[in-house]
Amino acid sequence: MWGTRPRHSGLGILLLGVTAALLMAWLRLSHVLFGIVAGFTAASLAVFAITRNGWRQTSPQSLTSRGIFPDSGQAFGGMDPGLRREIGPIIPAAVTRRTSGARTRRPAPSPAWRPEGAAAATARATAAATARATRGGQTRRRNETLQPDATITLSGERLAAGIDGLFASLDSELIGLVPVKKKVEEIGSLLLVDRARQRFGLSASRPNLHMCFTGAPGTGKTTVALMMADLLHRLGYLEKGHLVHAMRDDLVGEYIGHTAPKTKQVLGRAMGGVLFIDEAYTLYRAEDSKDYGQECLDILMQVMENERDKLVVILAGYKDRMDHFFECNPGMSSRIAHHLDFAEYEVGELLAIGGLMLDRSSYYLSAEAVAAFRDHLALRMKEPRFANARSVRNELESARLRHAYRLAADPERHWSKDDLMRLEPPDILPARDR
Ligand SMILES: Nc1ncnc2c1ncn2[C@@H]1O[C@H](COP(=O)(O)OP(=O)(O)OP(=O)(O)O)[C@@H](O)[C@H]1O
Ligand SMILES: [Mg+2]
Repeated sequence: MWGTRPRHSGLGILLLGVTAALLMAWLRLSHVLFGIVAGFTAASLAVFAITRNGWRQTSPQSLTSRGIFPDSGQAFGGMDPGLRREIGPIIPAAVTRRTSGARTRRPAPSPAWRPEGAAAATARATAAATARATRGGQTRRRNETLQPDATITLSGERLAAGIDGLFASLDSELIGLVPVKKKVEEIGSLLLVDRARQRFGLSASRPNLHMCFTGAPGTGKTTVALMMADLLHRLGYLEKGHLVHAMRDDLVGEYIGHTAPKTKQVLGRAMGGVLFIDEAYTLYRAEDSKDYGQECLDILMQVMENERDKLVVILAGYKDRMDHFFECNPGMSSRIAHHLDFAEYEVGELLAIGGLMLDRSSYYLSAEAVAAFRDHLALRMKEPRFANARSVRNELESARLRHAYRLAADPERHWSKDDLMRLEPPDILPARDR
């Protein structure tokens, strides 16, 4: 504000002087000469005005006030990229070097004119840009072929793929299933080593990943299939990593021309993920030569071969029935690379599974209730429709119901937090078993 006043008064004095000189010339000179002097003066004034405006626009104060910092090299950095390319070669090397690192070193503008929240936004944008650059850099670095004398660690590869957490939950969230967990670790290791080999430029065909999960109901097949889909996605073998669950009715039609569209629709939904076919042995009916299941199997086998880099098929079912299915369908058998057998749980494992389920919903069994539940499970296991961990879950759901009913039956009594969490033998055992 103070700087503009002297500048304006100087301009006024100059204009006054010029006007006075022109008046004198009008009185003293002939018309021709006056015309020449007036024209010359007007031209001089115009040149002065243009030069002065241009100087003001590029003065250090003006640049700084518009957010351009000549010292930091921003004057070049903020330049139109095309123009920068044009004049790049003539910018001295020292200036160019300064420009490239200028943005981070530029002092922050005064908070007085900064809008509210801009600091946070700038910080976020900078953090995002840095993260993007880091991620981009890591991807670039990972995509670069390593030198033959370079080394990698498989723990580093696991970390980069983000599968440590997945293996940890496989271990902590699933009781028992030791051979299954080992097999999943083996498949994970195979893919990890495959990825590491690719980083050295070692070519190999994509491993066959179609699988068969055999076991009785409720032994964890679907749960492990979901984890497998996630694992294959994280390791880059599946684009989406989702799981589509299908049974015979979803795949096989009831009349001519019905099966192919049905099967193809399910396959289309599963592309990029896992197609999990439960009770897969039902797709083949030896006794019925006209069954449309064979048409479905033919399409499946073709897609499993041709689209193996886009889709993983997991067939599931009872072990004896799946063995028979493979005997009758050698084409399908040869397409399955990994067989995982889910054994039925021991009573101790079922108790531990129950404990885990209760813990997740903030319940627990009293010492007497543990004994009662063990005895009850030992009996239930012998029943034909017992479904392992699923039956445990159902039993505990019923126990919760009975616990709630027991508490509600005494509405005036004061129940503590522990009372609301603890299940007792009467909650575990149905009335007829007590
Ligand atoms: N080992 C285990 N540890 C903890 N929970 C388990 C275990 N196995 C199964 N479960 C739980 O039991 C329930 C049933 O498991 P899941 O559906 O995976 O079994 P399934 O073998 O697919 O059964 P089905 O053949 O009847 O489809 C799920 O809630 C699952 O989390
Ligand atoms: Mg299942």
